[in-house]
Amino acid sequence: MTETLTSNVTYVCPQCGPDPAGEAEHARTHHTLEGLIPVANKAEPLTSKECFTSFASYYDLLYADKDYAAEAKQIHEILRPHGDELSEAPRVLDLGCGTGGHMLELQKLGYEVTGIDASTEMVRIAREKGLHVRQADVRTVHVKDSFFDAVLALFHVASYQRTIADFEALVDTARQSLKAGGLFIFDLWDGPAVLTYPPSVRVKWASDAHTSLVRIARPHGRPMDSQFDIDYTLYIESLAGSTPLAGGTPLRDSSIRKLTETHTLRYWFGSELRDVLHGHRFEILTERVPERNDYSLQIVARYR
Ligand SMILES: C[S@@+](CC[C@H](N)C(=O)[O-])C[C@H]1O[C@@H](n2cnc3c(N)ncnc32)[C@H](O)[C@@H]1O
Repeated sequence: MTETLTSNVTYVCPQCGPDPAGEAEHARTHHTLEGLIPVANKAEPLTSKECFTSFASYYDLLYADKDYAAEAKQIHEILRPHGDELSEAPRVLDLGCGTGGHMLELQKLGYEVTGIDASTEMVRIAREKGLHVRQADVRTVHVKDSFFDAVLALFHVASYQRTIADFEALVDTARQSLKAGGLFIFDLWDGPAVLTYPPSVRVKWASDAHTSLVRIARPHGRPMDSQFDIDYTLYIESLAGSTPLAGGTPLRDSSIRKLTETHTLRYWFGSELRDVLHGHRFEILTERVPERNDYSLQIVARYR
């Protein structure tokens, strides 16, 4: 099934073909994923142009060093003390799930996990892994009320929300989808950490038997907006005989490609976060402050 919930796009259903007017009702009655009721999304694209499109095929290799299993275990440890209040197979909604790294690991731990992501390519890759993922904007997707035991937004998804209104919309999606007492666990760029150790040019390498990646990240600060534009340049060396990760036929000769994307991230301050969370009836349970050179502030909040 191909569904798109970004602005000005209609649904295309493999059973019925392109949908005429009334797409939301069609999807709701015929092909909805459990727990989700899609609605037409009129929001402007959130992320920078082409963000998480051309890079998506290389995302898993670039983050092969990210320990999703350990991170899922940490989420499990946060949820476990609330076991009595959770469903037997607790339902988790992963907002901005990407290619599904946390979803896969949480499934292994017995969670029933649904993902939402705006990027067509990231969603395609997550679905190839057999994951239950819907393409939608987390700010405007309509999720079945009070259905989930926990909502996640991990690896800076909240920092991709550039304005207070965008962040509020994300928090409102979490509020709407959570059962009373449910937990919202997310991380974002911590303002004090970013100001203390401002982002600088970084280079990352990753490789497997077929592909070598070099990614250069050049940040440009916009302090009036609490934002950084990060210009990424990705060099991809595909070795002879390999099939490129982005698809196609096996290569006769080695080749090098260059891709660019700009991502805009916002850093946040405690007072901004508290105002929005309290305004949506969330009580902050814990805040895990970043370690040096890591901007990631993790917040666990309970919906009252
Ligand atoms: C850094 S990736 C993190 C992906 C995944 N959570 C992980 O840990 O690997 C950020 C993801 O957030 C998604 N994203 C950002 N803003 C979004 C929005 N408003 N709606 C849906 N997805 C969004 C992007 O498409 C991207 O896949």
